[in-house]
Amino acid sequence: MDMSYDVIVIGAGAAGLMCAAVAGQRGRRVLLLDHAKKIGEKIRISGGGRCNFTNLHCAPEHFLSANPHFCKSALKQYTQTDFIKMVERHGIAYHEKTLGQLFCDGKSQEIIDMLVNECKAGQVDLRTETAVSKIDYLSENYVVDTDKGRFSAESLVIATGGLSIPKIGATKFGYEVARQFGLNVLPTRPGLVPLTFQAALLERCKAMSGVSVDAVVSYAKTQFREGLLFTHRGISGPSVLQISSYWQEGESVHINKAPDVDALDYLKERKQSQPKQDIITAVSQILPKRLAEETCASVELSGRLADLPDKALAQVSQAINAWAVKPSGTEGYRTAEVTLGGVDTDELSSKTMEAKKQPGLYFVGEVVDVTGHLGGFNFQWAWSSGYAAAQNV
Ligand code: FDA
Repeated sequence: MDMSYDVIVIGAGAAGLMCAAVAGQRGRRVLLLDHAKKIGEKIRISGGGRCNFTNLHCAPEHFLSANPHFCKSALKQYTQTDFIKMVERHGIAYHEKTLGQLFCDGKSQEIIDMLVNECKAGQVDLRTETAVSKIDYLSENYVVDTDKGRFSAESLVIATGGLSIPKIGATKFGYEVARQFGLNVLPTRPGLVPLTFQAALLERCKAMSGVSVDAVVSYAKTQFREGLLFTHRGISGPSVLQISSYWQEGESVHINKAPDVDALDYLKERKQSQPKQDIITAVSQILPKRLAEETCASVELSGRLADLPDKALAQVSQAINAWAVKPSGTEGYRTAEVTLGGVDTDELSSKTMEAKKQPGLYFVGEVVDVTGHLGGFNFQWAWSSGYAAAQNV
């Protein structure tokens, strides 16, 4: 059995669904394949089940890539406003949560249903539970062998995503296809992922598990101000997830636990105005109590403010405003939201996502070395790159 199409898209996640729908609606005969039973699983679990589907402030500076300019063309061809219009056309209610992040009022499934309906409008042939065993390029056609038969097409789009959350179907398939056709793949690592502490630090921080603060977390020249959460493995929360995409193994991150307060000024003033106050009580005014206790303990400080020299106050202030902490690692792909690195953008046209040295072969979505910040940027990249390829397949 050999079935021929104009386009085969492998991977029915965010980017593959968008690409298939748009290409189908252009009149292309599209086959969309996925090895999983359920499509769009990452969309379903995203945003705590409400899918943070885009960001009002989407712009190239919210993406990491060896080539920071690469994402510009696709993001311009299909913007957050274009996606919002589609969401509105399908009558899906949504709201802005914070920092331009748009979430469904209802469930993420609405976004999956919307994309499936768009695929239906494009008469896309969608086949799940179809495992690809081999891809050949013969007579300017891609021949895809699967456990459900052989399919061929002049255009092949790889939309199989990255390595995060292997238990819901993530594979290295996309990178292998790239290598098969001689394309460079940049090293991958987990991004938007909680950071872990080594045993001694974890023991000290154990009492703080579950405590959260509004913090500025920085690494090198990059910093994010959002929530930080102490966990039983280390630290998480939006600010930590964001910095994890920049952090390099073996290095420290700096945490300002009270970004609106100059702790030293505050403590000196307290020492004048309330000399009998205990240091922990004073620090508890600007930090959650458990965090205040640990922060003072970390610099071995206790007692009345009046009895503490300014040098000691400077020490605790440093632990509040510029805590240098060296994570032991990350929680890895098991919990990472994204994969950094991937198919080298130098190998692809930024306008069409087509491989420069392999006509008709396209890579879209997370498999490409473009990774967004937390906040709906990764889905916008999936929509935009999927759309850009769909115009050309
Ligand atoms: P995606 O992973 O969506 O799809 C890949 C598809 O390919 C899957 O259907 C998979 O089954 C299939 N596949 C893989 N290997 C295959 C093979 N060998 N053969 C056939 N099919 C194969 N982003 C955001 O912007 N807002 C958010 O709220 C969130 N939230 C979030 C939560 C969690 C828990 C995670 C893990 C991730 C997010 N993200 C996110 C990130 C976002 O989900 C991600 O960037 C996009 O889903 C990437 O879209 P892709 O289509 O590239 O891959």
